[in-house]
Amino acid sequence: MYSLEGLQGNLKHLPAWGVKQGVAYKTLNTMNAEAGKTALITGASSGIGQELAKLFAKDGYNLVMLSRDGEKLTQLALEFEEDYGIQTTVISKDLSQENVAQEVYDEVTSKGITVNVLVNDAGVSTYGKFATETDWEREKSMIHLNVLTLTHMTKLFLKDMVARDEGKILQLASLVSITPFPLQAVYAATKAYVYNFTQSLNNELEGTNVTMTALLPNGTETNFFREAGAPPLNVEKMLDDPAVVAKDGYDALMTGKRKVVPGGLKNKSFEVMAYVAPQETLASMMRHFNTPQDEQKQQEENKTPGWVLGLGIAAAVVAGVALVTAWNQADTLTKARYRYKGYRAKQKANGLLDDVKDALVDTWDTVKKQSVDTKESVADGWDTLKSKAKTATA
Ligand SMILES: NC(=O)c1ccc[n+]([C@@H]2O[C@H](COP(=O)([O-])OP(=O)(O)OC[C@H]3O[C@@H](n4cnc5c(N)ncnc54)[C@H](OP(=O)(O)O)[C@@H]3O)[C@@H](O)[C@H]2O)c1
Repeated sequence: MYSLEGLQGNLKHLPAWGVKQGVAYKTLNTMNAEAGKTALITGASSGIGQELAKLFAKDGYNLVMLSRDGEKLTQLALEFEEDYGIQTTVISKDLSQENVAQEVYDEVTSKGITVNVLVNDAGVSTYGKFATETDWEREKSMIHLNVLTLTHMTKLFLKDMVARDEGKILQLASLVSITPFPLQAVYAATKAYVYNFTQSLNNELEGTNVTMTALLPNGTETNFFREAGAPPLNVEKMLDDPAVVAKDGYDALMTGKRKVVPGGLKNKSFEVMAYVAPQETLASMMRHFNTPQDEQKQQEENKTPGWVLGLGIAAAVVAGVALVTAWNQADTLTKARYRYKGYRAKQKANGLLDDVKDALVDTWDTVKKQSVDTKESVADGWDTLKSKAKTATA
């Protein structure tokens, strides 16, 4: 199926590979005769992308694996071929370069590969204060990778998916897509772009068989923070497992969900908090997470009123997690008791909502009445003025 160099004939599991013009080609064995579907994964050489690649391989997908490190990709590709009998293509490219998405697309299509699933995983960050510490060239390159290349890759492959009326795209967003993230400000802004972009496209894709899923991980244990140039941070005390993040993302992609926050209730509570808490509070809390572990002094300085509220919310999240843990460990009778309590609480909440509605209706009526009163008093005043003017001119 693939036009690759150094074909090994029918020698199963004896692939060879080479590098030409910046592109490392992995040679395939020919035993996997049935052409499975193909997933193209950027950032497949480590972290979440590597875990995703493994999940696709396990399910029999052929892989196109992309990143800068062709050697690492080739090693992984060999393992996947041997373990799962799939076909792989390795493309080694710097995706922060101009027009690179077009080069990838041209290369893939010239090999006759149909990309059924696109995973835009490759992404980086830079750490430090925007005004005084971070480097513009690195930020520019990050915006290129996280935003421009992702958008262009989506444009090129989505067009074909829509024409075929089949396909899936997984976009690596982040929980910081929906919160400020001081000390990684530009990174968070790029992820906000990815999330917003994905949700708009989802609407445009309605009525087709093409789906797009935004994956919003919390801090995950990968090379990410070291690559960003960060010292050990508070957030790194509670990182998620990249295999779990990838599995949740994979399942959501396969079922066509528009977005997924992986990692259970802790992260879902965080998402809810991000929607309801004031931005300053979120910024203070995220600043704490993004602070170096040994910077006690800076943490003291950050104790603003917003930060106090942030702590309260964080405590609520922890309480939520504790509740879920307790729930999972409770016996059937206890669960039934709590279900009943939950039902009562729901009734109370409904009552409360009705009260709020009544109060709003009352307020509206009062405002309406006041505006009628105001109109009447303006009319009265006008009449008085007119009669005074008449008297004065008589
Ligand atoms: N870790 C987290 O806490 C976290 C949380 C939320 C979202 N995310 C997102 O998850 C995605 C994966 O990150 P990760 O945590 O798995 O980090 P990671 O282990 O550092 O993986 C990043 C991947 O991107 C590739 N990459 C980086 N720069 C590239 C470039 N210029 N051209 C081509 N490939 C490049 C890397 O490969 P090479 O070095 O070989 O090029 C690597 O495969 C990113 O989009 C990140 O923003 C991460």
